[in-house]
Amino acid sequence: MSRKVLFDTDPGCDDAVMLAVALGHDDIDVVGLSTVCGNTTIENTTRNAQAILELGGYGDIPVAQGCERPLVDELATAEWVHGEGGIRGDLPYPEGDTLDQHAADFIVEQAYEHGEDLTIAAVGPLPNLALALAKEPDLPDIVGDLYVMGGAALSGGNVTPVAEANFHNDPAAASRVVQDAHAKMVGLDVTDHASISFEDIETYEERGGAFDVITDWLRYPAETLDVGEEGPAIHDAAVVADLIDPEVLDFEEYYCEIDTTGGPSHGSVICDQHDIYGEEPNTHVAVDIDVERYRETVEAGLEGYVEAADGT
Ligand code: BDR
Ligand code: CA
Repeated sequence: MSRKVLFDTDPGCDDAVMLAVALGHDDIDVVGLSTVCGNTTIENTTRNAQAILELGGYGDIPVAQGCERPLVDELATAEWVHGEGGIRGDLPYPEGDTLDQHAADFIVEQAYEHGEDLTIAAVGPLPNLALALAKEPDLPDIVGDLYVMGGAALSGGNVTPVAEANFHNDPAAASRVVQDAHAKMVGLDVTDHASISFEDIETYEERGGAFDVITDWLRYPAETLDVGEEGPAIHDAAVVADLIDPEVLDFEEYYCEIDTTGGPSHGSVICDQHDIYGEEPNTHVAVDIDVERYRETVEAGLEGYVEAADGT
């Protein structure tokens, strides 16, 4: 039986890969997307999300547009990494409409509709989820599972030496979610290793068709960042890989807090690894990734998406 998932997302190239994997894999049933500002503006992330759906022939999946700014801080976009408009590759302008409903309301509505059968996977800054928690504090008990791509619990950051981009963009929202959601936190501790090899990318490139646009997404960090020999890390895809194959990630439970104090570690995760506070654990922290299984899962999902997109 496939797993019902609502993705809260800010596409973004790695978000795009994640969505393609989810859409193309039989084990995932995408019930809807909610969009959030982050890698680019909310107008762009929404348009990109719709375009990714329509390219694969999934235009009937509902999209709810969400927050256009973080709860407290100013938005810091990253088009310089993800490309003009927040995404790379040649994507058609979408034809469909979004829902006439805010993302936070959509998240709560879908939670009521699907209950424990629903997994929420949030892979951008977290204002939509924080608002949904404010509207329905029981949300974590209503749904089956809640994944968040964000933070760096036991390792360094990617926008400051200690903070990861999604959490740094909206530390107040990240704090609300970490305190209340007992989430699975999939942070840079594992996603920095969620690479796709250059060899695999070349093989995809040779296959052509919709792989042309996917390889532009996969290469995104290599265009502007120093990615190392193992290939570009596709952060958000680590979440969908674990949804499909729970052996991909290993989790440990810790008590975590988010620094919202505005100092040099603003937006970072304080992970009480040695139980110094003596608090009950509130977060499942992803601590290890099986890279081979991750890559196999990504490949299987991408093949399904490309088959659907190319109509073969
Ligand atoms: C996260 O930040 C964004 O740039 C990516 O889409 C990912 O969700 C990685 O730090
Ligand atoms: Ca993202």
